[in-house]
Amino acid sequence: MNENVFELSGVCRSFGALKAVDDLTLSLARGEVTGFLGTNGAGKTTTIKMLIGLLRPTSGTVRLFGGDPADAATRARIGYMPETAYYYPYLNVRELLAFYGGVCGMDRRTVRSRTEELLEEVELADAARRPLRTYSKGMLQRAGIAQALLHDPDLLVLDEPFTGLDPLARIHFRNLLRRLRDRGKSIFFSSHELGETELLCDRVAIMKRGRCIYHGPVDRLAGDGRGNLERLFLDVLEKGGVA
Ligand SMILES: Nc1ncnc2c1ncn2[C@@H]1O[C@H](COP(=O)(O)OP(=O)(O)OP(=O)(O)O)[C@@H](O)[C@H]1O
Ligand SMILES: [Mg+2]
Repeated sequence: MNENVFELSGVCRSFGALKAVDDLTLSLARGEVTGFLGTNGAGKTTTIKMLIGLLRPTSGTVRLFGGDPADAATRARIGYMPETAYYYPYLNVRELLAFYGGVCGMDRRTVRSRTEELLEEVELADAARRPLRTYSKGMLQRAGIAQALLHDPDLLVLDEPFTGLDPLARIHFRNLLRRLRDRGKSIFFSSHELGETELLCDRVAIMKRGRCIYHGPVDRLAGDGRGNLERLFLDVLEKGGVA
């Protein structure tokens, strides 16, 4: 039985002359939490879009739950939170989730009960009647988290989920991700927040100019007592990779 939730092998994606992702081989084990790090423009969002079937690789293969990411049944098992979400501004968050639940083919009663549960979870219950155009950045981010979790997916793919969250919301969200991991969910998220990533992840993957220059545990350098993710990050970026 294949224990990997996804497998990218030799994946490349070009935009004209630019190689945004260059020969990327990466996998996520079932139940694993991996942080996806790298400098701006390193290819994280492009990789995530290929992973969930929003973008086709120029070459290489993407397998998600052993199948094609463009397949509807495969996609139904993913909760995806985009880097920048554009929600219809006149909907409120309940309407947003009802719409999304319909798209996912969930029955209305389940959508309603999940919605109330998640609005409590992301602390939007008091603002649930307000249209999304009146939400702050962090509130929209919370709405995005609720949307990604609505159908109780097996794999969460989150593109910079911590951006815009206040410190309390961040702790709350970190704990939520931990609870999901404890329930056996697999989580792959991109981030520039090294502290959060270090607290949450089993492994990290670090991208630089389209290439993965490190994929391994966070405590790799812990032997000298100074091993932390910031150090690892700076180290591999400087060297261009860890042997
Ligand atoms: N649709 C597109 N057309 C042309 N170039 C693109 C397109 N999408 C991404 N790129 C380019 O591909 C490269 C990788 O972009 P990507 O968004 O994947 O980076 P990222 O690692 O997510 O960066 P950030 O940390 O800033 O979010 C960048 O040089 C970007 O300009
Ligand atoms: Mg990005």
